[in-house]
Amino acid sequence: MTATGRARSHDRVRIYEVGPRDGLQNEAVAVPTEVKRRYIELLADAGIVEIEATSFVSAAAIPQLADADELLPQLPARPGIRYPVLVPNMRGLARAEAAGVGAIAVFTAASDAFTSRNIRMTVAESLDAFGPVLARSGELGWWRRGYVSTAFGCPYTGRVEPRRAVEVALRLLELGADEVCFGDTIGVAVPDQVTELSTIAREAGIPADRTAFHFHDTRGTALANVVAGFGAGIRCFDAAAGGTGGCPYAPGAAGNLATEDLVYLLDGMGVRHGVDLGRVLAAARYISDALGRPLGTKVGQAGGWDPATGAPVGRAL
Ligand code: COA
Ligand code: ZN
Repeated sequence: MTATGRARSHDRVRIYEVGPRDGLQNEAVAVPTEVKRRYIELLADAGIVEIEATSFVSAAAIPQLADADELLPQLPARPGIRYPVLVPNMRGLARAEAAGVGAIAVFTAASDAFTSRNIRMTVAESLDAFGPVLARSGELGWWRRGYVSTAFGCPYTGRVEPRRAVEVALRLLELGADEVCFGDTIGVAVPDQVTELSTIAREAGIPADRTAFHFHDTRGTALANVVAGFGAGIRCFDAAAGGTGGCPYAPGAAGNLATEDLVYLLDGMGVRHGVDLGRVLAAARYISDALGRPLGTKVGQAGGWDPATGAPVGRAL
C-alpha cells in the first residue's frame, strides 16, 4: 500500500546500490572482507539487483578496497543480479576479468581539477584511457557505466556548467558506455539544476533510460533532487544503505543518499522498485554496527511507516 493509495505501475525505478564501494572507500578503519561480503549479501536479500561491489584501483589510492580480488568471487550469484566494479585502466580491467566480473564502471568528471587529484589524469586523458577499457569490456559482453563526477560543482573550482557535464557524458556513450551517471559528488545541487541538466542531456540526445543520477545528501537536497530527476524522466538513482560514503579526493563530501530514505520515498510515491525497506534497514544497521556508528539516516532512525496501522516499520529497538 502506498501513502497515496495509488500505484504508478508504469513507472519502475532502478535502485543502484553504491554502499559497498562508495560507502566504504573513505572509511579509515579496514573493514574485513567477510563483513563486506555479508553486507552485500544482506543488500541482495533486500531485493537490490545492482550492487556496486568494490573497485579495482590502486591500493595506494583506496586502501579500503584493496581486497577486491578476494571479495568478488565470494559474492552470491543470483539470477539477474549485477555487481559492477570501478575500473580506472587496463590493469584494473585485467584484475576484474580474473575475478569474474561482468559489469564495470569507469569514472571521470566534469572538472580537470577533480580528475587530476582522483585519478591523476585530465578529463581528456581519462577519456583516452577509458577507450580501450570500454572497448575490451564490450567485447567481453559486460555491462558498462560511465560516471561524470562533479557534474554540478567541483570542490576545487566551484560551479560546473551543465553543458560541460553533458559533453563528457556524450563522449562516454560514444566510447561504448551503456549508461552515464551524473554525480553530485560533493552534494551541492538543488532540484532546479537537476531539471536543467536532465533537459540539456535529453536535448543533446542522451536517452533518459541510459541516464542515472548519483546524489550526496551533504546539504539535505538529495531526495528533492531525486524527485526532480524522476520528474524529468530519469529512472535510475544511486544510494548507499546507511547513508555512508564520500570520496577521499572530494573534501567536504558527506554521505550518499541513503537507500532506506530513497526506498521510503518511492514506496510513498507508488513507484515500483523491487526493494524491501525492512531488509534494507537490516543491511544499513549491519554496516553501521560494523563501522561502530549509530545509524544516522532519517528512515534509519524513524523506521518506515505502515499506513494500515500507523506503526513504524523496521525500526531498531
Ligand atoms: N589496480 C591496482 N594497482 C594499480 C592499478 C590498478 N587498476 N593501476 C595502477 N596501479 C598501481 C601501479 O602498478 C603502481 O604501483 P607501484 O607504485 O607499486 O608501481 C601505482 O598503482 C601507480 O600507477 P600509475 O599507473 O602510475 O598510476 P597513477 O599513480 O597515475 O594513479 C590511478 C592512477 C587511476 C591508478 C589511481 O589514481 C587510482 O587508482 N585512483 C582511484 C581513485 C578512486 O577510486 N577514487 C574514488 C572513486 S570516486
Ligand atoms: Zn557517491
